[in-house]
Amino acid sequence: MYDLTVIIPTFKEEANIRKIITEVDAVFLKNALNGEILVVDDNSPDNTIAIVNELKKTKTNVSLLVRKSDHGLSQSVADGFLHASSDVFVVIDADLSHPPVLIPKMYGEIRAGSDVVIGSRYMEGGGIKKWPLKRRVISLGATFLGRLLFPDITDPVSGFFAVRKRVVAQAQLKPRGYKILLEVLGKGIWENDKEIPFEFSDREIGASKLKIKTIIEYAQQVMDITLYSFSHHESAAWREWKKVFKFGLVGLTGVIVNLAVLKLLLMAGISGYAALFFAIVVAILNNFLWNDLWTFKDSAQRLVTSVWQRLWLFYTVSAGGAVINYGIAIALTQFIGMKIELADLIGILIGFVWNFVINRRLTWGRK
Ligand code: GDD
Ligand code: MN
Repeated sequence: MYDLTVIIPTFKEEANIRKIITEVDAVFLKNALNGEILVVDDNSPDNTIAIVNELKKTKTNVSLLVRKSDHGLSQSVADGFLHASSDVFVVIDADLSHPPVLIPKMYGEIRAGSDVVIGSRYMEGGGIKKWPLKRRVISLGATFLGRLLFPDITDPVSGFFAVRKRVVAQAQLKPRGYKILLEVLGKGIWENDKEIPFEFSDREIGASKLKIKTIIEYAQQVMDITLYSFSHHESAAWREWKKVFKFGLVGLTGVIVNLAVLKLLLMAGISGYAALFFAIVVAILNNFLWNDLWTFKDSAQRLVTSVWQRLWLFYTVSAGGAVINYGIAIALTQFIGMKIELADLIGILIGFVWNFVINRRLTWGRK
């Protein structure tokens, strides 16, 4: 049995396949890893298959899966998961965009307890070489959408990652398009993740197969994972929803605290505006405490380690939320003549989204 299986999806990679296999195998040798290389090819019409078959003659740890139907990158990787003969999978592109030298590090992190290890282009130390503006913009858009589901992960659409077999073994993956990692994160069963930075360097040879259709499929995928999480409470996306619910509940307690303090101060004879101001300040403090001790209790490796700094941030973000609430309500009444109560409700909703998203990332974000 192998320690790990490096899965290489290929379509028309005759110019790169020999080099990537040789490099991965050299990394195995150098690091004393008992690794398998599984090439999953979509029946390429070029020499990819012939080259792999030739390499197989001298390298017993190389195997080839040729697929004849359901063409696609994600589908191929998912098929690779089923055919791999080890408990740890590493997925890597054939076109040398991902550095094979990082494989031992990824494997090491899995051994150390991570369920998923992601090669990240978007964390400190990572990067992208030689990408046209258009691709950068598309990728940032995709990353933004993906981060709504997994706010702690800087590169949820990376094509370079390691995963334990047990994460995907029971998962009902619906692979399509290019973003198999998002599918794994959305539907796999995992707790611990780790990101390591790497520099993506675009292919030297051959063309990328990214198309418009890929982008549409991606948006569908994000929707699908969101819906899936509603009925699969063991999924990571559901963990995120739970935080949203808790955050909302805390917000409601804030309303009660706000009204109660207001009432008390008024009874104590304090003037209306001053009482209102204190009521708001106390309510935000109430919300902070509940969120810090309950909603985001489990945030590991906090970005902001000082509780005072978190408190200060929370007040600032909440002030921003109030301004958004106010601005949107006014705009809706002014410009489309909406009734003020409804306008306020919409303002509250958008302010809530702002408060959650920014506080989740900043105040209680991960390093
Ligand atoms: N089996 C199979 N079937 N493999 C495919 C297919 C397919 O339909 N399409 C592409 N591949 C293989 C390529 O041969 C290559 O090894 C890898 O998948 C990536 O394909 P590229 O065409 O080079 O993709 P890219 O450079 O545009 O996209 C990269 O960046 C994305 C992140 O922005 C890849 O790393 C993606 O995995 C990654 O999500
Ligand atoms: Mn590529």
